Amino acid sequence: MEAALADIVKWIGLSLGADLEWPIFFEDILERLNLRIRRGGDTLSFAVERVTIEPFDLAQPVKYDVLLDRLTHWYGTSREWIKKAVVHDDLYVFNNPFTIQSMEKHTSYAAMMRLGLPVPATVLVPPKDYEPAPDLQVTLGQYARFFDLGEIGRKVGYPLFMKPYDGGAWRGVTRINDEEALHQAYDQSAKQIMHLQQAIEPFDLFVRALAVGPQVNVIRYDPGAPLHDRYKVEFDFVDAEEWRLLSDMVLTINSFFGWDFNSCEAMRRNGVFHPIDFANACPDSQVTSIHYHLPWLVKAKLRWALFVAGTGRKMRHNPDWAPYFEIAATDLAYREKLAGYASIARHSFETDDFLDFCDTNLADLDEIAWEYFATPRAREAVRRKVAVLFPPHEVEQFTEHFWGLIQFWRTTERDRLDLAAQAQVSTHALKP
Ligand SMILES: Nc1ncnc2c1ncn2[C@@H]1O[C@H](COP(=O)(O)OP(=O)(O)OP(=O)(O)O)[C@@H](O)[C@H]1O
Ligand SMILES: [Mg+2]
Repeated sequence: MEAALADIVKWIGLSLGADLEWPIFFEDILERLNLRIRRGGDTLSFAVERVTIEPFDLAQPVKYDVLLDRLTHWYGTSREWIKKAVVHDDLYVFNNPFTIQSMEKHTSYAAMMRLGLPVPATVLVPPKDYEPAPDLQVTLGQYARFFDLGEIGRKVGYPLFMKPYDGGAWRGVTRINDEEALHQAYDQSAKQIMHLQQAIEPFDLFVRALAVGPQVNVIRYDPGAPLHDRYKVEFDFVDAEEWRLLSDMVLTINSFFGWDFNSCEAMRRNGVFHPIDFANACPDSQVTSIHYHLPWLVKAKLRWALFVAGTGRKMRHNPDWAPYFEIAATDLAYREKLAGYASIARHSFETDDFLDFCDTNLADLDEIAWEYFATPRAREAVRRKVAVLFPPHEVEQFTEHFWGLIQFWRTTERDRLDLAAQAQVSTHALKP
């Protein structure tokens, strides 16, 4: 007997904290897409819902096929719900909370050093102070070695950066010029476990490579600019090979750790891109930081969430590092090794199937998003976000500023879409 054809709703969950505008964009564009996808005889449609915080029974099933998580790097209740949903209910979540929790900045440095990526030399030092604990004095008395901080500083070399081993949000980051400043910063670091890291200076380019599944966008970044102006709207700041290298780098990192959404900060010195921070559980997604680049990100998140939910992609529970380490142990040059890692990564992100899925099912997405980002509703979401972060007398001015950048995105996007359409017409014209 043949199985009956079914109409199936795939649920996308959003686990959110302070995110305001991109979830509205995500939900609105999904609604406008009004997708119905045929798969194996069934018809799939998609619905999105925001996850609420409430008591949960560990054995209670979850309704979601995929979850986008923006909360659990600091909010324990949701993190434990997600972890239980992964082990108990096979939920696909980006990002995998297990690898985010256990492989923060420090581990990511060590792993990528082993793969041969030019991570700056980094030393971890035990903290200056401790929370009192019953066994603390016994343990330190027996095992903590006195160390010469000045000597470590000289070995790493000045200037250097002192920053928490598990950092984020620029907390506790200090640029240090000499030994006196090093001692001072260490004394102030209190109970934090710190890295001392060689500075990549002088650098001539700073980028953030943002990736969602197999999709990558490389954005120029200026760490010295005011917060709203750090992500730049610039083009052609890297050549094609550099773009490829940065894509290979971030995809390698993400597939190695099992992260679907992450950004890799890299600084170029003497033609070499040094990755300096690439364990970001919750990359910037606010219009007030990424403005012009936000429509790209919303579309990238939509495409990847729809692909995961629509194809039933399984989350990899355990990373498999052996294939990377095999390449790392060969005599290949760095660039060849990186290409090898990236090819594992592209395979693990099912890049070909993903592109097919988008061609077949999401052909309208670009035009729908282009129209949507001109609507009063989208502008109002931008204004609400600005109103949360800026003083009342600056709200109008900065709403216009960020909205203006989104409108500039629409101009460049229109050119891109028109060129792509023309290219398609001319390819078709060549066909017999
Ligand atoms: N090794 C380095 N060489 C040069 N600059 C560095 C280095 N490490 C950190 N910095 C500078 O300090 C900033 C913050 O460092 P880092 O990104 O590691 O910390 P973070 O807390 O993760 O910050 P964020 O949340 O902004 O990513 C970087 O954006 C960069 O400008
Ligand atoms: Mg950083």
